[in-house]
Amino acid sequence: MSLTEQAVREALARVNDPELNRDLVSLGMVRRIDIADGAIRLRLALTTPACPLKSVIERDVRAALEPLPGFRGVEIEFTADVAGRARGQQDLAPGVRNIVGIASGKGGVGKSTVALNLAVALSQSGARVGLLDADIYGPNIPTMMGLREPPRVVKNQIVPLEKHGLKMISMGLLVPDDSPVVWRGPMLNSALRQFFGDVDWGELDYLLVDLPPGTGDVQISLVQLVQVTGCVIVTTPQLVSTQDARRGLAMFQQTNTPVLGIIENMAWFRCDGCDKIHRLFGEGGGERTARELGIDFLGSIPLGQNVREGGDSGVPVLLADPDCEQSLQFRRIAGELAAAVSVQNLEGGRRPVEINLGSG
Ligand SMILES: Nc1ncnc2c1ncn2[C@@H]1O[C@H](COP(=O)(O)OP(=O)(O)OP(=O)(O)O)[C@@H](O)[C@H]1O
Ligand SMILES: [Mg+2]
Repeated sequence: MSLTEQAVREALARVNDPELNRDLVSLGMVRRIDIADGAIRLRLALTTPACPLKSVIERDVRAALEPLPGFRGVEIEFTADVAGRARGQQDLAPGVRNIVGIASGKGGVGKSTVALNLAVALSQSGARVGLLDADIYGPNIPTMMGLREPPRVVKNQIVPLEKHGLKMISMGLLVPDDSPVVWRGPMLNSALRQFFGDVDWGELDYLLVDLPPGTGDVQISLVQLVQVTGCVIVTTPQLVSTQDARRGLAMFQQTNTPVLGIIENMAWFRCDGCDKIHRLFGEGGGERTARELGIDFLGSIPLGQNVREGGDSGVPVLLADPDCEQSLQFRRIAGELAAAVSVQNLEGGRRPVEINLGSG
């Protein structure tokens, strides 16, 4: 009996995407089926090029097709079609499929470092990525990327700078280094509005937004101005920092903003002399907080001198030292984040546990 397209499609309808828990056919992932003499060529469009479970999908597809009568082999071509947020008619950045805020309740936990390295990791996976430095009080991203020239304006649109595979815009590029900027509510709101509406972002799969610390006006403006896919909370393992993370979480919940997960930074230090792991800021705080609040834990990043040096030199650690433990974790977490974005867009995400602001 010869193999038919219908038989292949029916078999694929029994294979689930492990992250989204729905079958490949109803998810629209099967883009092409060619059969010649029992040899199948498939094109599958993943919901993100940074898909952490691609090999699982490939294995399950093979297992589903091999028993079919007349099967003589399968070749799978993977492409990606990134699932996007809901965009209304008035959306300020209609070409941007996902906007993800990188937040923390507490300052100095590594938001900017994490935002930049995750952006680079997503870009390396093949996605189109932008980085918006929304820390208008103390913008650090230009230094961390080794950029300082003011952006050009073409046809009334600000052209983002491009480096390390990213498009980037920052208040640090628009105002001179040493001038203190005093932002009042309406000004701040219009500055942020410009960062979305007046910047020529083009088509992007992911725009990561590096937020200032805390739960202030910038965070509120962000979620009011644009439909964000969600926010990520960065914390360090110790108690005060995870308490602050909870506060950040409560704020996003009050504004009905999905929280895509928690990332723990500065999780441990590995001694380069004896290879022993030291947990300077305690152990497992980020994971515990995530579990208690019913939010995904996206992963931990260890301390590393190379991370700090990457920030100071303008070459992110992921590019300067791609095989180190920190870079490995950044890539892994970027995959988890991309998967959480897909789940959010296709399934409405997982519901976090309701918490209130007083419960720190
Ligand atoms: N995993 C790490 N290992 C070593 N140094 C790190 C790590 N993560 C961040 N740093 C360093 O810690 C400092 C603070 O990081 P960063 O500026 O990213 O934090 P932030 O949360 O954005 O701070 P702010 O609240 O001021 O915006 C920087 O010097 C950075 O290089
Ligand atoms: Mg910062």
